[in-house]
Formats: sequence, structure tokens, C-alpha cells
Amino acid sequence: MTDAYATFAQDSFAGRTVLVTGAASGMGFETARAFLSKGAEVVLCDRDAEGLSKRHDELKGIGASSHEVVADMGDPNSIRRMFDYCDANLARLDNVVTCAAIITAKRIPEQDWAHWQRVLGVNLLGTFFTVQGAVQRMQGSPNGGNIVCVASDAGVHGGGGLIADTAYAASKAGTLSLVKSVARELAGKKVRINALNPGPTDSPMHSHVDQALKDRIAANLPIRRMGQPDDMAAAILFLCSDAASFIYGAALDVDGGSMFR
Ligand SMILES: NC(=O)c1ccc[n+]([C@@H]2O[C@H](COP(=O)([O-])OP(=O)(O)OC[C@H]3O[C@@H](n4cnc5c(N)ncnc54)[C@H](O)[C@@H]3O)[C@@H](O)[C@H]2O)c1
Repeated sequence: MTDAYATFAQDSFAGRTVLVTGAASGMGFETARAFLSKGAEVVLCDRDAEGLSKRHDELKGIGASSHEVVADMGDPNSIRRMFDYCDANLARLDNVVTCAAIITAKRIPEQDWAHWQRVLGVNLLGTFFTVQGAVQRMQGSPNGGNIVCVASDAGVHGGGGLIADTAYAASKAGTLSLVKSVARELAGKKVRINALNPGPTDSPMHSHVDQALKDRIAANLPIRRMGQPDDMAAAILFLCSDAASFIYGAALDVDGGSMFR
């Protein structure tokens, strides 16, 4: 592990709370670790109960206080219970980061109705209803709050079926759009929402991708390496920090140059 967020002071997020979805793996886990190491109280949420408990154990001893909540972003009742937990256990909710998503790589003929429902259900509806829960809590707080939704470069330039398919890319394009819509509606409300737009990142999401293909992906990026989860965690910390207080309704590309436009 590198530590792309080392430059943040140890107490940057002291006294702040954070909810991170998809926290049992990859960027979500690294984001939870980053916030904890900078003084925040963190709620780690994932549908993978075993993975969550294992990864949460790795964080014991880092930072102030952490919690784990098993919740499925494809189920509105589960999302509601996740927020009930936060209401019961946190003084208030300052930051919410939505990392949970499923990636799929099916060709057009293989994508049936159930496939689209599953992918949009978790990646887009799950994100929206998490944002909704966050907004409901942050609007009433004198401190307001920060929301970061993790989208994807596939939401900008599409997916071709090899690594990310049409349904996945559409769910991420929808995430970029929902961030802008929510930002418009929340104008003046002290709640900032932004998207993080990662490029190819070497996380367990790509465990099915062989090393030769990863090497080709890296070679095609202007920066000549794939991203690491801590690159994303550092950018998420930045978006939630006061240093980003004028960044609003934006999509931050953290992509080694893959989305030169
Ligand atoms: N890895 C990449 O190259 C890449 C590129 C662009 C965007 N992204 C996005 O970054 C985010 C994090 O990806 P990652 O690479 O860390 O992936 P990952 O697979 O390592 O982690 C995703 C986590 O989300 C959890 N999750 C999946 N479905 C869930 C559900 N229904 N409810 C709750 N949790 C659920 C998984 O259990 C897992 O722990 C995702 O939104 C992904 O789409 C990843």
C-alpha cells in the first residue's frame, strides 16, 4: 500500500463523521482507512458481511472509532436500516461516500432485463437513495455536509463489454447526472455534492482481468500506470475537505489522463 493521502494532517477530520458504502474492498476500504487515519469516526457499510468484518478488523487501532453495518444498496429497506444505524450511533452525519457498485462485462445480446435491473438497482438507485438519506440528515445540520458519489470513466466514454458493459456505463453516466441534479436542487443549503470519476484502478473489482491486460491498460494511459485505491481515497478526502469548499456539483477525473477531453 502506498499512502497518497499522507499529506493530510493527522487531525484533518477529527470530530467529523463519515459513512462509506462498498467499504469491504478496494476504494471504499481505502477511503474508510484514510478518514480513520485522519481522525474521523467512520461507518463502514457493505453487503459482504464476511469481507466487511475481516477488513474492519484490519482497521482496529487506527483512529477514533469505527463501525460496520451490513447493508445491500440494491434494497431500499436495507438502505433505510443503514441510516437508522447512523442516526442511533452518530452525533450527526458529516460526510457520505458512495463507493458500492457492481461491475459487469456482458455483450449486448447477453444483457437481459434482469441484468439491467440488477446493475441499475445497485449502482444508480442505490446511489440515489443513499444520497437522499444523506441530504435529509445534512440539510438539518448547522454544519451541512459533503457527499461524494463514485462514478466512472465508463460513464463518460462508455463501456465496450470487455471490462465494463453498457448497463454499467449507463449506471455511471446516470450517477454523474444525478450529482448535478442534486447539486442544483441543494443550492444554498450548505451541503456540497460532487462526483469522483476514477480511471482504471487496480482493485479487486478487476480480479477477473489478467495481468497482461492490466499491463496493456497501464501502457495506454498517459501516466503509464493504473490507479491505486489510495489515489482515489486521497481525492475523496480532498473533496470532503475545506480545501474543496468552492467545488460543487463537479466531477473530478482521477484517471491518469484516460479522459483527456
Ligand atoms: N476499479 C476501477 O477500475 C474503477 C474505475 C472506475 C470506477 N470505479 C468505481 O469505483 C467504486 C469502487 O470500486 P472498486 O474498484 O473499489 O470495487 P470493489 O469491487 O473492490 O469494491 C466494491 C465494493 O462494493 C460492494 N458492493 C457491491 N454491491 C453492493 C451492494 N449491493 N450493497 C453494498 N455493497 C455492495 C462489494 O461487496 C465491494 O466490497 C465503484 O463504484 C466502481 O464502479 C472503479
